[in-house]
Amino acid sequence: MLFRRLLGIFILTLGFAASGLGPSPRAEEPVSNPPAIEAAADEKLPPALTEYKGRTIAQTMHYLGAPWLTRENREREEECATLLKNLGIKPGMTICDLGCGNGFYTVKLAELVGEKGKVLAVDIQPEMLQLLKEQAKEAKLTNITPILGSLVDPRLPAGKVDLILCVDVYHEFSHPVQMLAAIRAALAPGGRLALVEFRKEDPNVPIKELHKMSKEQIRKELEPNGYKLVEQFDKLPWQHVMFFEGIGEAEPTKPQLK
Ligand SMILES: C[S@@+](CC[C@H](N)C(=O)[O-])C[C@H]1O[C@@H](n2cnc3c(N)ncnc32)[C@H](O)[C@@H]1O
Repeated sequence: MLFRRLLGIFILTLGFAASGLGPSPRAEEPVSNPPAIEAAADEKLPPALTEYKGRTIAQTMHYLGAPWLTRENREREEECATLLKNLGIKPGMTICDLGCGNGFYTVKLAELVGEKGKVLAVDIQPEMLQLLKEQAKEAKLTNITPILGSLVDPRLPAGKVDLILCVDVYHEFSHPVQMLAAIRAALAPGGRLALVEFRKEDPNVPIKELHKMSKEQIRKELEPNGYKLVEQFDKLPWQHVMFFEGIGEAEPTKPQLK
């Protein structure tokens, strides 16, 4: 019993360290070239940015850090149920969990949209998608479609997605301009992008600075890329929730693949 508890604590600690998000200095930086990113190296990609509009882009959270995403105290720390209640989800919707990781939110979204709805779960790391598939199987959910995205293209159907949710993901995009264009092209008429980011304005949010964003910075990046802020939810303990819609016609994206 004691051994199992100690083992649990060890695994969680490992996950938190590998996640790269924690407040304390880590012995090791998150791996910047996880295998999935290398696997996509045959694509003709524009160079990855290290900065965008004055912000340093964070490294991708490695899949070895995935246990941190499903840690027991996440609900208590981030009030995930409150977030889900305030996303405007209705049964039958098509939702994309973009940067789904190991599927912490995907599974809950799939339950909320029900059998007539669907969740497109996108990540660039196949290992994350594998973990998600295991969770979906365990929860007996059949309305989840895992999609291996690329650094520039989430490979979503054009004009079909009612809500694209990015929880703690946008600040990792190495190609924010291309990703924002692809997201716009995927939104259905009236569809929304919901960005959930740790509050940079708040020094009490115990997350590494590179993994936090201010509201001002989020607007500075989204608005010139054809988005307008349409709603905000400010009652989560650690995160901003900002809803955006595309302005005007979205350009059809040309995935930059060979
Ligand atoms: C910090 S994790 C958050 C996972 C999940 N949203 C959650 O809250 O549990 C960030 C995830 O975004 C993914 N990611 C980073 N850049 C991406 C991109 N361009 N397209 C899709 N996923 C991306 C990473 O692989 C990682 O799994």
